Amino acid sequence: MAIEPGEGAKRWETVQAICEWMASNGFDRNSALLSLGGGVVGDITGFVASIYMRSIPCAHIPTTVLAQADSCLGGKTAIDLGPRKNLLGTFHQPDRIYVDPGLLGTLPPEEIRNGLAEVIKSAVIRDENLFRYLENHRESALKGEGEVMDELILRCCRIKAEVVTRDERDSGLRQILNFGHTVGHAIEAQTGYRIPHGSAVSIGMAAETFLSLRMDLLHFRDAERILRLLRDCGLPVRIPENCAPDLLISRMRSDKKAEDGKIAMVLPEAVGKASLVKQIPMRLIETVLREARS
Ligand SMILES: NC(=O)c1ccc[n+]([C@@H]2O[C@H](COP(=O)([O-])OP(=O)(O)OC[C@H]3O[C@@H](n4cnc5c(N)ncnc54)[C@H](O)[C@@H]3O)[C@@H](O)[C@H]2O)c1
Ligand SMILES: [Zn+2]
Repeated sequence: MAIEPGEGAKRWETVQAICEWMASNGFDRNSALLSLGGGVVGDITGFVASIYMRSIPCAHIPTTVLAQADSCLGGKTAIDLGPRKNLLGTFHQPDRIYVDPGLLGTLPPEEIRNGLAEVIKSAVIRDENLFRYLENHRESALKGEGEVMDELILRCCRIKAEVVTRDERDSGLRQILNFGHTVGHAIEAQTGYRIPHGSAVSIGMAAETFLSLRMDLLHFRDAERILRLLRDCGLPVRIPENCAPDLLISRMRSDKKAEDGKIAMVLPEAVGKASLVKQIPMRLIETVLREARS
């Protein structure tokens, strides 16, 4: 079964259509689902597999940089509820994942760039060597050249596997994978998902880097390195004009990491190291969001 491309497919109606199709084609508890596509297809497939007949196995063949380097691993499944990104979801580990960077050959340059945003995220939170590798091989990466993509994706999968193995249920360490996503998800929702996930995460990483700098958690040199690599990869770093700080803040208050309306974010402390910070002064968040607008 094929679904419409884009984030808009991550909604209840798609799940219902797939389940109806499965039921009318005799899927039972001995059946399994195989996803072939980007993160959207993987998230929906995993979600359906986790609820159909109280769960059936699934496997993934990810076909975007983002899905190969990040979303295929870890067992998080999700659909959106209106503007509320990934609000409905489950943990359902795939039984198999087949990652073949050869499948990336047909991706448009924009999708390669968006995937590189998650590669940069993984490098900033966990692996300075990966960050340096991307700094040195940026042009080949942007062209999607095989050897470099193999290396980037392998290293990202290792990082994600290590983090998820230590905190499968997202109650501690795994939250660092959310660097750039608190602001990024708010921008995606505020712009009606017209900005692709990777681009929104890139803007989010830039804003959260500024915030870390303002809180004296990050050295200026490291902040500059992060911003330069994002820009050099052709990724956006400015918050769109139509995303006023108060609107973004009210969306961030309903982020899954927020507690009692207090916004928590993953902030970089160096290239290769990040932590979840819970006590972020609201005034500082407002200032950074205002200054980062284009
Ligand atoms: N579950 C997780 O842990 C996790 C982690 C990160 C992101 N995500 C989710 O992943 C989604 C984003 O994934 P994405 O960036 O892969 O987007 P996507 O799945 O929308 O794919 C992007 C576009 O590329 C097209 N495409 C896919 N493979 C192609 C190929 N080989 N050649 C040409 N075109 C191809 C798709 O049709 C689509 O138009 C978001 O919904 C995000 O929430 C999930
Ligand atoms: Zn992401």
